[in-house]
Amino acid sequence: MRIDGGVALVTGASRGIGAATASLLARSGAKVCVNYATNEEAARSVVAGIEAEGGTALAVRADVTDRDAVERMVATAERELGPIDILVANAGMRVHLAPFLGYPWEELEAKLVGEVKAAFFAAQAVAPSMAARGGGAIVVVSSTLSRRPGEGFVAHSAAKAALDGFVRALALELGPRGIRVNTVAPGLTLTDATAFLPEPAKAAAAQATSLRRNAAPEDVAGAILALVSDASRHVTGVWLPVDGGVTMP
Ligand SMILES: NC(=O)c1ccc[n+]([C@@H]2O[C@H](COP(=O)([O-])OP(=O)(O)OC[C@H]3O[C@@H](n4cnc5c(N)ncnc54)[C@H](OP(=O)(O)O)[C@@H]3O)[C@@H](O)[C@H]2O)c1
Repeated sequence: MRIDGGVALVTGASRGIGAATASLLARSGAKVCVNYATNEEAARSVVAGIEAEGGTALAVRADVTDRDAVERMVATAERELGPIDILVANAGMRVHLAPFLGYPWEELEAKLVGEVKAAFFAAQAVAPSMAARGGGAIVVVSSTLSRRPGEGFVAHSAAKAALDGFVRALALELGPRGIRVNTVAPGLTLTDATAFLPEPAKAAAAQATSLRRNAAPEDVAGAILALVSDASRHVTGVWLPVDGGVTMP
């Protein structure tokens, strides 16, 4: 699946799913803006990996919950790489895990608002130019927890479910402008965000999948590539779980 000549912005691309996605999109022909929050060294290493393979990438720091920072990042990316054709709104917010009874509202509010801001600001920063040029592709990274709850994950489930609705609304409104908007919902994926889980928990999660293994970031990146590439040119508004067959919608 080639996306030659395209320009992609991947948020939260210094590590994990975002880093794997940035690398795969670059390998597939796109020039890539590698967004990060604070970890400049990790972002530069993703860019160096892409360049070592003959690709083009640029690391840009921006807190995706800060509208001005997102707009500055998009301006920098467009100046250096060209107009953005592909947005992967991947950066997720930290989550406080605890049972609902006694769960602090402030934690839920911060997670909910942060996740929606991150997708909203990035999509609103790139969509006008996509529309003016006749189209584009946006993927928002949600979670299977938006539909299949897990104990202690009340804030994560609520925030990711909000993103799912956001994607459907955008798919409806932006479709006539040629912009496709889809959700990729990973299950448990081996990244820094899940490193805290004990090995038996990861093994049990792997056993619960049809494919009997945990996802690697590259597994999620592959699904994202499929959705942003022209192979999915008539696909919009879908919610695609990438969890080895745990969720079969
Ligand atoms: N891992 C899983 O099991 C799993 C499952 C379902 C869904 N997801 C979703 O997949 C996405 C990626 O998760 P991951 O596991 O790959 O995460 P990760 O390995 O922890 O990486 C987080 C990335 O997001 C960046 N980031 C965090 N806050 C940011 C902000 N405010 N502005 C810009 N960038 C920010 C980080 O930048 P720095 O390096 O600068 O900190 C880093 O690049 C998230 O939306 C997450 O909810 C993950």
